Amino acid sequence: MNDTNSGRRAILRAGAGLGAVALTAGIAPAVTRSGSDRLRIGIVGCGGRGTGALVNALRADPGTQLWAMGDVFRARIDACAGHAAGAIGEEPERIAVPEERRFVGFDAYREVIASGVDVVLLCTPPGFRPQQLRAAVEAGKHVFCEKPVAVDSPGVRSVLESARIAKERSLSLMSGFCWRYQSQMREAFGQMHEGGIGTVRAVQCTYNTSGFPEPKARKPEWSDAEFQLRNWHYFREISGDHIVEQAVHAIDWINWAFEGTMPTRCVAVGGRSTRPDLPETGNIWDNFGITFEFADGARAYHQCRHWPNTPADNTAYVIGTTGECRVMPWRGRHLIERHDGTTWKSSAPKNDMYQQEHDELFAAIRAGSPVNDGILMAHSTLLGIMGRQAAYTGQAVTWEQAMASEEDLNPEPWAWGDRSARAIPVPGKTRVW
Ligand SMILES: NC(=O)c1ccc[n+]([C@@H]2O[C@H](COP(=O)([O-])OP(=O)(O)OC[C@H]3O[C@@H](n4cnc5c(N)ncnc54)[C@H](O)[C@@H]3O)[C@@H](O)[C@H]2O)c1
Repeated sequence: MNDTNSGRRAILRAGAGLGAVALTAGIAPAVTRSGSDRLRIGIVGCGGRGTGALVNALRADPGTQLWAMGDVFRARIDACAGHAAGAIGEEPERIAVPEERRFVGFDAYREVIASGVDVVLLCTPPGFRPQQLRAAVEAGKHVFCEKPVAVDSPGVRSVLESARIAKERSLSLMSGFCWRYQSQMREAFGQMHEGGIGTVRAVQCTYNTSGFPEPKARKPEWSDAEFQLRNWHYFREISGDHIVEQAVHAIDWINWAFEGTMPTRCVAVGGRSTRPDLPETGNIWDNFGITFEFADGARAYHQCRHWPNTPADNTAYVIGTTGECRVMPWRGRHLIERHDGTTWKSSAPKNDMYQQEHDELFAAIRAGSPVNDGILMAHSTLLGIMGRQAAYTGQAVTWEQAMASEEDLNPEPWAWGDRSARAIPVPGKTRVW
């Protein structure tokens, strides 16, 4: 065993001790299913991020054990298990999942949750998240919940209720808004929250890239449902469109800069100007621009686009009454310049934000002091949905309207077979309520 592992085992023992104290004091620590020091992990959605999250969870705590796996495609489960085995090779007993705990299909999440796990990693496309999250917390499981957490307003409301249930039951609920766990970003936003630029009056942020992974042309044997799932990024029913699925990371910085204060309304533009109209490129747009308005007159502006052969940019400018902060996460640099001529630069060593999430999640579970990202992850997701609703319709959308909207992107339960997809939105014609 290496030094890191022995250190982690010491933390594990300390955490187990804390759990025992909490139990004696009558506080529900809800640490492990069995009372042993093993935390059984179940993963739902064994793709790229799910596999990464699984390895993070296994590395975060030496007492974790991969117990059950679920996906709609069997091959993903096996590939994920193989990758985890490579990453945690010296302890095969921690990743050996027998055939009877490899669950395939749209109900796989239910079987994973019912298999005797302590912690569930929810890493499917976001259209499925609200339903899976509710099932997990109602079954008393701790959850790591990738972002975004929903694709529509009913989904966000469901997530808020799930967050309330998790809190009531002392369960940890950690979001995949990973920049919240990045050391230099924490340092920069911490400076701002301590008054480093005065009162925040405006945020301008971007998420401009050349696009999503290459879409896959339809194979004759694929049903509509399989075709859409294999190209899920391109179908807003499952992804929420790229503003919700991807740019939501930058939109979350608006939430962070304003310390959870939500805007009163937004107006937006957008369209689909470079994305080719192919069946596999689905029904999402390729650009959005949003203005969020706050009750005190502050503003936030967000721009995101998927345009090949154009510069990528993922930055934020946070403008306060006494200075401004340039947030440059891809460069690992953040800079404050104040009106009085003084400056501040981030200096924290860079950490692995994905690992940090799981280190903090499992430490919280061990200590019996739950972490709950529920409100921030639901609100940041709704900011993206609100912007999308304003852009698709061409109408101003208030926070109350966005929160109350009944637009349900998946009114029919998912099953293999025929499934029609929505049309590409046209402002002035498309209605979302
Ligand atoms: N925090 C980050 O930086 C970050 C990075 C990448 C992805 N993500 C998020 O992680 C999630 C997954 O993204 P990904 O890149 O891993 O996608 P992916 O396509 O690689 O993986 C998704 C997996 O979920 C499976 N799946 C689809 N529907 C399912 C269902 N109903 N039940 C069970 N399994 C199902 C798919 O077969 C696939 O294996 C998305 O919400 C995405 O936004 C976050």
